[in-house]
Amino acid sequence: MEYTSLIIQCEVTMCGIFGTVLKQGKAVELITDGLKRLEYRGYDSIGVAMIDNGELHLRKDMGKLEEVIENLNINEMNGLVGMGHTRWATHGAPNMINAHPHLDGSGQIALVHNGVIENFMELKDELIEKDHNFVSRTDTEVIPHLIQEEMKADVGLKDAILRVLRRLKGSYAIVVVTSLEPDKIYCARHESPLVLGVSGEGTYCASDVPAMLPYTNKVNYLRNGELAVLDVDGYQIMKISDGSYVERGLEEITWSLEMAEKQGYQHYMLKEITEQPTSLRDGLRLQEQYIDLITQFLDRGKEVLLTAAGTSYHSCLAASYIFSKIARLTTYPVVSSEFIERYGSTVGIDSIVLTVSQSGETYDTLKAIDHARMKAATVLGITNTVGSTLTRVSRAYIVQQSGPEIGVAATKTFTSQVLVFAQLAMRLAKMRGKLSQDELDEFDENLHRVPDMVEEALARNDDRIKELAEKLKDDKLFLFLGRGISAATALEGRLKVLEITYVPSLAYPAGESKHGPISIVEDGVACIFICPRGDTHSHIIGSIMEMKARGAKIISICEEGDNDIIRLSDEVIEMPIGIPETLSPIPYIVPLQLLSYRLAVMKGLDPDMPRNLAKSVTVP
Ligand code: AGP
Repeated sequence: MEYTSLIIQCEVTMCGIFGTVLKQGKAVELITDGLKRLEYRGYDSIGVAMIDNGELHLRKDMGKLEEVIENLNINEMNGLVGMGHTRWATHGAPNMINAHPHLDGSGQIALVHNGVIENFMELKDELIEKDHNFVSRTDTEVIPHLIQEEMKADVGLKDAILRVLRRLKGSYAIVVVTSLEPDKIYCARHESPLVLGVSGEGTYCASDVPAMLPYTNKVNYLRNGELAVLDVDGYQIMKISDGSYVERGLEEITWSLEMAEKQGYQHYMLKEITEQPTSLRDGLRLQEQYIDLITQFLDRGKEVLLTAAGTSYHSCLAASYIFSKIARLTTYPVVSSEFIERYGSTVGIDSIVLTVSQSGETYDTLKAIDHARMKAATVLGITNTVGSTLTRVSRAYIVQQSGPEIGVAATKTFTSQVLVFAQLAMRLAKMRGKLSQDELDEFDENLHRVPDMVEEALARNDDRIKELAEKLKDDKLFLFLGRGISAATALEGRLKVLEITYVPSLAYPAGESKHGPISIVEDGVACIFICPRGDTHSHIIGSIMEMKARGAKIISICEEGDNDIIRLSDEVIEMPIGIPETLSPIPYIVPLQLLSYRLAVMKGLDPDMPRNLAKSVTVP
């Protein structure tokens, strides 16, 4: 049965940007080298715009960096001013049309962008009314057209750009080169990173330090709400809000290039744990209509099966609690390698199969999808990788917008997946009238507090986790226990420890302890309890006392000041107050991610490349 996926075409990109204004030499060679140093940010298409003798030249295409550079002879482009972009699509097919840079209607303004313009549809409609024509499906393309429109008011390029930036909602790092001012580069940021650099040879701007390290280690991180104008001698920074100038000195980067690619972190895993507030904020910028689309399918199904592998399965398990409690929807989570055995004979045309895969390439998950499609079920997807097989075989899909995850152990992609599920459950609850408006408003408010809760959890616990890891580094066994949705958190925490420290670890719904697992508990066995406040709080106290009575070392993750838990525990990790139980896996997994990371490093292991494991298991 062939059908085209309802590909969700909202161009959101994670990408690498590099621009330069040189006194002499071939700017394009610095640009392509700079883009290569940003390739850890992932890419599926690239483009370069150069100013040569006052004229704007642009070359771009989909494909791997080296291939496109060679095929389009990009390094033959001339000029002292230019910029490049590597796009890692998180929505919409990767292709030449959607590749950056994008032009205005006159072809005189080229722009690249990293981030999510939330109000691009209304801006696009307004421009179409003014006879602007668009060639791509990106949110980015509206920006150069808006600048072109503002220029008609004869306000000068800088003020035109300032006016446009004040109208954008969402996140952006943008860079503009134009034949209107051939010796300058304009760049601005809000939430997406952008850094400036200066050397004796010229001025630079990039998404990240590695791109410019070979040329300078003197940098200036642009702040949110700032526009910079670069020329061959340096740059000026101004506030977008009122155009006032900003004076800020240069910082000196002491990292090695290899360290710089991890933004100064020793491992990608720590970088990715730490960037969860950002990835979660991006995850809250899913376009409304896409959440609606998936929710309508969920509402129509006779049954909803959730299937995935590993960490992605744990997000499905957490989702089953959220869907039940928030939307009164029963869902059936199953690991994808067991999907055919368990549901292969019963799945059918009335079934909704919601699959989750960060890579979109996991063999077991794709096999489950193939079987479900053969049985005429509706297959939906949540993935982090546009252009992956999952996006091509799903009827509709959502991209979780976590950005590239390099570490083999999934961290930010887990929290983003749970966030996507929470948004789906909230929309379904509204569609089905299962929550009052007040309850919906409260849930939505809590959802939007999640990134801040994670940020606070990271800030307050980093040193505490190092201390705890020091105490636990010689332990030979860990038991992770949680009740209700925290059982999913326990399983995910266990998997982190298992896969990067190799210490045998068990995880169970805490109520199951007395049905077997408690037999392994003896003096000093570390039992890690996940204890958010909520419906399961009183039950988890009973479980803790059970283990304590048998000499276990009680390690509890609980809300700050929760003395019922604290007084029973040998070690406590305190979390911010007010985290609702149904959203607790997102912040409560963070200390466990950090604990597994610290333990692995203390053991002299490489958390990014654990033995026997691959980032994407594409084999049976
Ligand atoms: C989790 O840390 C592991 N990397 C692994 O369990 C992973 O979650 C699993 O292989 C599924 O990968 P996917 O999300 O890309 O399908």
